[in-house]
Amino acid sequence: MSERGFTAALLRWFGLYGRELPWRGIDDAYGIWVSEVILQQTRIEQGRDYWLRFMERFPTVEALAAASEDEVLRLWQGLGYYSRARNMHAAARQIVEHGGFPRTIEGLRSLKGVGDYTAAAVGSMAFGLPVAAVDGNVYRVLARHYGIDVPINTTRGKRTFEALAQELVPADAASAFNQAMMDFGATWCTPRSPRCIDCPVAETCEALRTGRVDQLPVKEKKLQVKERHFSYIYIRHEGMTALRRRPAGDIWQGLWEPLLVEDAPLPDLGCPLMLLASGVKHVLTHRILLADFYLAEPEARPELPPGYIWVSEQELDRHGVPRLVEKLFSMVH
Ligand code: ADE
Repeated sequence: MSERGFTAALLRWFGLYGRELPWRGIDDAYGIWVSEVILQQTRIEQGRDYWLRFMERFPTVEALAAASEDEVLRLWQGLGYYSRARNMHAAARQIVEHGGFPRTIEGLRSLKGVGDYTAAAVGSMAFGLPVAAVDGNVYRVLARHYGIDVPINTTRGKRTFEALAQELVPADAASAFNQAMMDFGATWCTPRSPRCIDCPVAETCEALRTGRVDQLPVKEKKLQVKERHFSYIYIRHEGMTALRRRPAGDIWQGLWEPLLVEDAPLPDLGCPLMLLASGVKHVLTHRILLADFYLAEPEARPELPPGYIWVSEQELDRHGVPRLVEKLFSMVH
C-alpha cells in the first residue's frame, strides 16, 4: 500500500469507527486544548466527565484566566498530575495577555506546559495546521504497520516516528488523520490483542506479515543503575601493601584491589584509618560506585581476610587495577 493508501484507509476507518467525544466537532481551540491536557495522563472515560465539568465552570479561556489557582486545582481534584492544571492556568493567562490563542506551532509551544504533542494536536484540530501529533498510539500503529523496530523511547525513535507520521499526514485533513491514528491505536491496534482480523490496513501490515505484532513497538529497557558503596583501605606496612585479585563474577574479575569493605563496618587494623577521599564516583554501565579511600599504617602486620597477599609497593604497577583503584594509588604515592 502506498503511503497515501494507508492514510486513506485510516481516514475511511475513522469515518466508520471514530469515537464520539464531546470535544470533537468543535472548533474552539480552548476546548480542544483543555481536552488534550486532560487526556495526557487520563483515560478517555474518566477524562470526558472532567472535561464537561471543567468547560461548564470555565467555558472560555478568559474565565479560566480569571479564576484562582485554588479553584482550578479543586476542579482538577482526582485527576492527578496537578502540574498540568497549574500550567494550564498559567497558560490561560498567557493567552489572554497575548489577545487570543496563538495560531502557529511555535506560538503554541511557547505556552506553559505545551510540548510538541499538544502543540501539534491543538494546532491541527483547532487551526488545521498540517502537523502530525505523535502520541503512544501513533508509535504503536506505525511501528507495527511499517515494521520499525527502532526503540520508541530513544531520540532516534522519536525522530523516526515523527518524520514518518509527518510524511503520512494529509495537509488538508491533519485533524481527522491525527484523531484517526489515536482512535485506531486505542481501539483497534491495541497493545495486547489487537484486532488484526478486521484491520483496515492488515494487507500491508509488516508486523502481521512477519509475525511480529506482539513484538512491536520496541522499547529500550532502561538499565537499572544501582549504587554500591565501597571503602578501600590502602594498608602500608614496611614497604608492603595488601592486595587481592578480584574473584570471578564481575567486570573487574582478575584485577587487583586493596582491602575492600562493602556494607560492613570498617575493620580494626590496630591503627587509625586516615580518610583520603570520600564519595569518589565511578560510573559503570549497570552500577554507580561511590568509594571512600583510607590509608592505614599499622605498627604490626594485621590479619587480613582470606585472599589478600602482601605485595611490595615497588611492584604495585605490575598489578592490573581498575581505574578507581588507580585513583587511590595516586593518592598514596
Ligand atoms: N487522546 C488524546 N487526544 C485525543 C483525541 N483528540 N482523540 C482521541 N484520543 C485522544
